[in-house]
Amino acid sequence: MENKTNQQLLELRTQHVPRGPFNVAPIFVKRAQGAMIEDVEGKTYIDFGGGIGVVNVGHCNEKIVAAIQDQAQQYLHTCFHISMYEPYVVLAKRLNEITPGDFPKKTFFVNSGAEAVENAVKIARYATKKQGIIAFENAFHGRTYMGMSLTSKVKPYKSGFAPFCPEVYRMPFAYCYRCPFGRSYPSCDIYCADALEDFFIGYAEAESVAAVIAEPVQGEGGFVVPPVEYFKKIMAICEKNGVLFIMDEIQSGMGRTGKLFASEHFGVEPDIILTAKSLAAGLPLAGVTGKADVMEMPPVGSLGGTFGGNPVSCRAALAVLDFLNEDFLLKSQELGERVRGHFLDLQKEFPIIGDVRGLGLMLAMELVEDRQTKAPATEKAKALVSRCLEKGLIVLACGNHGNVIRTLMPLVITEEQLEKGCSILKEGLNEISGV
Ligand SMILES: Cc1ncc(COP(=O)(O)O)c(C=O)c1O
Repeated sequence: MENKTNQQLLELRTQHVPRGPFNVAPIFVKRAQGAMIEDVEGKTYIDFGGGIGVVNVGHCNEKIVAAIQDQAQQYLHTCFHISMYEPYVVLAKRLNEITPGDFPKKTFFVNSGAEAVENAVKIARYATKKQGIIAFENAFHGRTYMGMSLTSKVKPYKSGFAPFCPEVYRMPFAYCYRCPFGRSYPSCDIYCADALEDFFIGYAEAESVAAVIAEPVQGEGGFVVPPVEYFKKIMAICEKNGVLFIMDEIQSGMGRTGKLFASEHFGVEPDIILTAKSLAAGLPLAGVTGKADVMEMPPVGSLGGTFGGNPVSCRAALAVLDFLNEDFLLKSQELGERVRGHFLDLQKEFPIIGDVRGLGLMLAMELVEDRQTKAPATEKAKALVSRCLEKGLIVLACGNHGNVIRTLMPLVITEEQLEKGCSILKEGLNEISGV
């Protein structure tokens, strides 16, 4: 590559790439290592975005790179449907073993999170011979037609792209900070989960619903963490009504919440569980894992694709799973507690921080104009993201109103980098709120 400046590359980007694929930072990367990114002009950034939760094991983790290099020297692609290879089946076995649920499972691979969502819906519909899919308010499940139909936020994800996939229903989620039912935890007795029973009466009969799909911690929707009892209740209602439960762990999985899967925090064993993002540390790979009897239903040839389960991606994923051992996850839990402590301290200092929430290193602060009205501080969140960038910290916003600042830093981040990142956030908060 020639040595170009960020500005020169930005001009090329603007000229040759449509605006639809968004960019958070107007920088171009030269190299990335661990939790640090260096741009083409030599400026370094602490990465609290992790490529949107993709590099939990760190940028260019040497164990993963070694596995990738080793595989790349043997074969890059044969297509699993034409001539099979060991990394695919070994990875499927590993995921069947480590995903929640001590029952027989099967896994197959596709290329992206959205594609995993598509396939989960296909399988659920085929297996149940029913059509309805219930998703949640604030959900994000990708940008393909089914992914987008299941996604909640209208702009920019859905606006202008209608018609959407039919038989998709939406019910309120357990967003305690803004309870859709106006109640408060724990006196609510998790009414929002019981509401699924009413949903089957008032909106879509269970006899025509194939599955409920949820994120254990909503990602793009604002890092919303439901009460610990929530999913058990939801799953019990699903089971009673012959409805499958699909857990989308695409953003929350692979150690992000301090456990391998966020479902473990809730003690639930979904019928189908989806992995992507950090599964292969930056190479495209997504897994659809589910109860064996359900997964076996669709006939030969009905699932798959040319690139799904590419051998290099599978080798990377096997190395990721080796890396995410118990000690490592324990350490990331400790780091999570440290960041939560910082965020709670910041909340005491800055009235703009209405809520601090999250699990492990999947943490967020929701910014509001006023703690009483909870009016979303969307513009201030935007300003904070750009102030942080100027100071050398990449951080992302999320939420239906874009007013939630979230952390998706590599779990290998050093304490020093973490502290520095948090102090940049504090400086940025100072500047945007004028405290
Ligand atoms: C929870 C969740 N599901 C699905 C997706 C879609 O994944 P992809 O962008 O790989 O298609 C995302 C992406 O952010 C996600 O966070």
